[in-house]
Amino acid sequence: MKNIKIKVPATVANLVCGFDILGMAIHQPYDEMELRITDQSGIMIRHTDDFNLPEEPSENVAGVVLQKMIEELDLKNGFEVIIHKNIKPGSGLGSSAASAAGAAFGANALLGNPLSKDQLVHFAMFGEELASGVRHADNIAPIIYGGIALVKSSCPVDIIPLNSPDLFTVAVHPQVEVKTSDARQILRKSILLKDAVEQWGNIAGLIAGIEKNDFNLIGRSLHDIIIEPVRSILIPQFDIIKRESLKLGALGGGISGSGPSVFMLTEKEETAHQIARMMKEKYDETGIESFVYVSRINPAGIQIIEN
Ligand code: HSE
Repeated sequence: MKNIKIKVPATVANLVCGFDILGMAIHQPYDEMELRITDQSGIMIRHTDDFNLPEEPSENVAGVVLQKMIEELDLKNGFEVIIHKNIKPGSGLGSSAASAAGAAFGANALLGNPLSKDQLVHFAMFGEELASGVRHADNIAPIIYGGIALVKSSCPVDIIPLNSPDLFTVAVHPQVEVKTSDARQILRKSILLKDAVEQWGNIAGLIAGIEKNDFNLIGRSLHDIIIEPVRSILIPQFDIIKRESLKLGALGGGISGSGPSVFMLTEKEETAHQIARMMKEKYDETGIESFVYVSRINPAGIQIIEN
């Protein structure tokens, strides 16, 4: 195989209480990437979108992943990559993870699939490091594994794929900038034991709810007492959107990744659309442009669409 075209989904990292350890793939939005393996060495990256992302391989998320693969796997060939990006950079919907995971997955397929999924996560995390300064896997893991994934450990990589409950997600992306690096910088470096106990009760409850398809337990567990109170001040309308979403019947939700996107989980598709309309209205009222995406959880994750 010389060429491959792949579809790389957006992701919701943290899933409210699981900071850096939980993530979920969704269907909308998604990127498309075309990769080609070349006999001669070197990496070429081209973007067809208008996001003005660097194409120099050492400054591009996909570029650094491929460079790391070439070095660690001692490859003699090179790669050409064309990225059609729809997941807006800085949205909190895993835009950099999509490019990073797409590069690792696509190159592995072109090489005849020598790597395990955990090895793909290992390589893709170098892209996250370039984008945010930290090698976190909570966006990458659900792209590679599909559905909802638990990052039991990112070093060494140990990913536990979880059940994908039949739920809908609604995510709103208000057009304000929140850089992941800034949103990490403002977090407290230490927490009280009593807060940790409450938080890990919620994480364990959420995972049990996901595995048992217990939607009530999922709803009861979607609480974050550590990260959300700090980060939510960066997101206009956060409190009102969350409150109104719960009133309209959301199981729960919160900040998607490091924001500014906000997501909610619902049992019914109709509820998700009602919440989507409310979210859009709330941002329209304040003159902030926003994009809203309603989708099911995406159990497949990254997909080959042409080869
Ligand atoms: N877990 C990361 C964070 C996700 O919250 O900073 C960033 O997309």
